[in-house]
Amino acid sequence: MATFKIQRYNPEKGAKPYIKTYQVPIEPGMSVLDCLFYIKENLDASLTFRASCRMGICGSCAMYINGLPRLACETQVSSLGTETVEVKPLPNYEVIKDLVVDLTPLFHKHEKVKPWIIPLDPVELDQPTLEYYQSPPQLEDYLQFAYCLKCGICLSACPTVATDEEFLGPQALAQAFRYISDTRDNGFRERIQIVDTLHGLWRCHMAGACAEACPKGVDPALAIQLLKRRAIFGQKKVQARLLQPPVEPTPRPGIPKAPEPTLKKK
Ligand code: SF4
Ligand code: FES
Repeated sequence: MATFKIQRYNPEKGAKPYIKTYQVPIEPGMSVLDCLFYIKENLDASLTFRASCRMGICGSCAMYINGLPRLACETQVSSLGTETVEVKPLPNYEVIKDLVVDLTPLFHKHEKVKPWIIPLDPVELDQPTLEYYQSPPQLEDYLQFAYCLKCGICLSACPTVATDEEFLGPQALAQAFRYISDTRDNGFRERIQIVDTLHGLWRCHMAGACAEACPKGVDPALAIQLLKRRAIFGQKKVQARLLQPPVEPTPRPGIPKAPEPTLKKK
């Protein structure tokens, strides 16, 4: 059995947050999220939490587990090394109910850095006729930052976010770097104006807590340092070449036909 101490809070009832204790029978392989479902289905249907994919992809089950922000579905109870599991909502966000926090500030900050490809030729974006060629090393420049789930864990770990609401935060800054370093993108000037500000890049005190907490191995602290360099020295941009889509090989007999390409050749 494990003892779950869960922070409960229902602002509609006007009560203060309090800790409620549950006993959960643990089986090998159970994650903290499995235990929360066990509690909801067997002990207390009023317990409120967010989850969707149960496989570390959607980012919705981020919560504070035994003193660290983590994904509940990726946290095995056995890996915690204790029979008491404390679960609270993510710090640095408003609590909506129990373990559900309001992630609106995360999404607003993310949106501010224009998290999409700003192409050199906008016509190619709307009606593409050619394909961008990007080499494997060019992909490596931004790939780890593209793994961001938008779970919000890095903001909850960041001491600067805790003291400055306006700070863009590690997630948005890492995404600014992700797009700036993509050779298909041409938005360096636009984005650098947004991040090279008092509540942007320069507010980061390099605690590095974001990089340690990220469940997907993204290193926002590294992205911020690289962005600072580009804000000072500018960027020598290598633009991805636009090429004709590759000629399709003739399939060997017996191989089923490939689906129709989405891009029509001229
Ligand atoms: S950088 Fe990591 S911790 Fe931050 S939102 Fe993205 S996946 Fe979550
Ligand atoms: S439920 Fe999707 S990341 Fe945990």
